[in-house]
Amino acid sequence: MTKPVKIPFFVPWINQEDKKSVQRALGQRWLTNGPILKKFEEKIRRFVGTKYSIGVSSATSGLHLCLRSLGIGSDDEVIVPTFTFVATADVVKYCNAIPILADVDQDTFNIMPQDIKRKITKKTKAVIVVHYGGQSCDMNEIIQLSKKHNFRIIEDCAHALGSTYRKSFCGSIGDAGCFSFYPTKIITTGEGGMITTDNQKIYTKSKLLRSHGMNKTPREREASNLWKYDVMDMGYNYRLDEIRSALGISQFARIKQINQKRIRIAKNYDHEIEKINGISKPHTKKDRNHIYHLYTIKIEDDYHLTRDELFLKFAKKGIGASVQYIPLNMMSYSNNKSKKWQKSFVHANILKDQIMCLPIYPTMTSKEITAVISCLRS
Ligand SMILES: Cc1ncc(COP(=O)(O)O)c(C=O)c1O
Repeated sequence: MTKPVKIPFFVPWINQEDKKSVQRALGQRWLTNGPILKKFEEKIRRFVGTKYSIGVSSATSGLHLCLRSLGIGSDDEVIVPTFTFVATADVVKYCNAIPILADVDQDTFNIMPQDIKRKITKKTKAVIVVHYGGQSCDMNEIIQLSKKHNFRIIEDCAHALGSTYRKSFCGSIGDAGCFSFYPTKIITTGEGGMITTDNQKIYTKSKLLRSHGMNKTPREREASNLWKYDVMDMGYNYRLDEIRSALGISQFARIKQINQKRIRIAKNYDHEIEKINGISKPHTKKDRNHIYHLYTIKIEDDYHLTRDELFLKFAKKGIGASVQYIPLNMMSYSNNKSKKWQKSFVHANILKDQIMCLPIYPTMTSKEITAVISCLRS
């Protein structure tokens, strides 16, 4: 029998201000397509440093809208890392296009530019990069490839609200960025997401498709006293409502504090893990920050337990951990049984047995951090 969890893997940080903000939103007549969404979009746009932003129902819907806005369709190929959440590849399939999996760096767990290069074909229309755990990918190398081979770059920023690369914020570097506000993420709206972009076409089209391809919202129709509207394209209900936007604004007011707290916890972990044989701390690169949405360790051969044994030990002590990710090439979903293809994911196939993500959340106490460390040490 495992003990009940005493230190969960994550805890969303919801305070009194968040509750008041949601309460105020509930007093509005427009509960969706309203002014709070616009305010939230404006805040994220300014922070990331792009011309436009579009609030959406999730990062998944944001990624889907970006691909559709770029005209990605049947038989186009989109390169995605194998070491990611399945949504990154799903959205390619939503467009009837083909996700092409690429291997990741063995230290940062980010997509390898060298493997992108190997997988480029005439059909490659885009690459979706994932800034794993809150540290940016090697954007310079990927941008060089995109210029040479004429493909678009979408940044999956689900982990990266506040991550920077050479002084630019993630979400402002590629053609578009997509953030997630799922409860485990840097800030939360319950479910929710945001697209950021400088590209007017992506902005206009994503905004249209977010709400069934209709050219006017009910609120705009009411304001103009005109009932007519047109459906310009096949769209979706991918809206971010006012209640969630209100929670987002309130959460976002603490973004600096949230990321500082995460970084402080990570530094505490780093300091102690450096003294433990056989466990390596997350690798950081000099020209970018790391905001530690995930604190992912590697359990090497000279540690006295395997990763699976360590995971079980955590569970028995009531400490939450997670393995992010089982590579997509390993999933039944990938549907490619070729041994040669499986073997091409040299790093991901090793990492899958080595990595474990430790609990990290802004309200984590020193006592909780110490308990996690002693579980690793003993
Ligand atoms: C890398 C990555 N991409 C996309 C998503 C999907 O985000 P959402 O749940 O907001 O659709 C997640 C969520 O866990 C993620 O980790």
